[in-house]
Amino acid sequence: MDRMDWLAGQGTPLQGELDIPGDKSVSHRAVMLAAIADGTSRVQGFLEGEDTRSTAAIFARLGVRIEAPSASIRVVHGVGLHGLRAAPGDLDCGNAGTGMRLLAGLLAGQSFDSVLVGDASLSRRPMARVIDPLRQMGARIEAREGGLPPLRISGNNVLQGIDFKLPVASAQVKSAVLLASLYATGETRVLEPHPTRDYTERMLSAFGWPIRFSPGEAHLAGGHRLRATDVDVPADFSSAAFFLVAASLVPGSDLLLRRVGMNPRRTGLLEALRLMGADIQALSPGEQGGEPVADLRVRYSPLRGISVPEHLVPDMIDEFPALFVAAALAEGRTVVRGAAELRVKESDRIAVTAAALQALGASVLETPDGAVIDGGPLHGGRVDSHGDHRVAMSLAIAAQRASGEVRIGDCANVATSFPGFDTLARGAGFGLRTAAAEG
Ligand code: S3P
Repeated sequence: MDRMDWLAGQGTPLQGELDIPGDKSVSHRAVMLAAIADGTSRVQGFLEGEDTRSTAAIFARLGVRIEAPSASIRVVHGVGLHGLRAAPGDLDCGNAGTGMRLLAGLLAGQSFDSVLVGDASLSRRPMARVIDPLRQMGARIEAREGGLPPLRISGNNVLQGIDFKLPVASAQVKSAVLLASLYATGETRVLEPHPTRDYTERMLSAFGWPIRFSPGEAHLAGGHRLRATDVDVPADFSSAAFFLVAASLVPGSDLLLRRVGMNPRRTGLLEALRLMGADIQALSPGEQGGEPVADLRVRYSPLRGISVPEHLVPDMIDEFPALFVAAALAEGRTVVRGAAELRVKESDRIAVTAAALQALGASVLETPDGAVIDGGPLHGGRVDSHGDHRVAMSLAIAAQRASGEVRIGDCANVATSFPGFDTLARGAGFGLRTAAAEG
């Protein structure tokens, strides 16, 4: 992928009604389950991001016919639980941790060997967290030293159900175990230290697999089949989050974000922003594809610093780069604790976001599991997103309140989760343009 920078600075108040692209977590899972179901499933609102396209491309290589009759639609001709076929060569997950970790579970139960690879960022992310429980189930998986990708997964193993207590709150690890358990004999029970997003559980149920689950716990047994079903993917709350923060920060803003997914395991940022004094209303609540959705109206409101309640951390785990920006422009001090997981995301999000905000004049003190941020004015300058999509978009928000232009390096990866962000943001009033990378 060509490297690309952004030049961002103050625009106009953010106004209008926006349609945010489909949920990344739901899009990955919809393609995975549809691929191993009996029959044809239609996925509507599929995220046309590089991460989710990588997952679809992998299933196409494993023998699943997937049609794309128009943008954001996939028609997946499922091959049944045991219908995947070996593909020659490596399976490339790109930048997607969700793709690689969930596929590790699903491929552990196949009759053929697979190799999962990823880009430079994914190749630095810890995989022992999925390898360990999958090995306990009987899987054979080899990684590079330190539990890093590529993952070499051997087929033809007898998997057994497992009673697994997750050491970290991770929906990806939980989902890897649940997907492997479809191929295992006996019962699997997964217990989480804190409830995480339950899309895998909900979707298994929608595809007809018997499963019992409640926040923090899931039980299921092998030996069933998945039945094709249509999936209507809601707009991704994590993508909406950038506009929630931006409109809260830019005076005069009034934005409406339509039909945003409101799964309670995703909306922690909403609570944190409201504690900071944000003016966000959830209007016309409804349901889409079995998920709660609402229109979110957000208007400018001066923010004040808070101590982010630790119980909210897993429910806003992808939103901390944006929260750091809100905190840097709020009045007073914000303290984040209990968020060490941020250090093993697409980048070390504590270090990378802190360094960038410091370069713009913010007072950010890194701690091992969070940060202490004192709000104040920001100036222009050069910052680096380190190829992390969510850091890049968060810094574009910071620039809307900076006194000078901000050059944000290495932004092409925004297309992994939010293709078209720059066009949508400009249309809403952002000062933002792309530029060829320097240096
Ligand atoms: C995801 C789970 C989270 C999140 C990621 C998507 C998922 O990761 O950060 O963006 O779809 O299951 P962890 O499971 O590592 O917390």
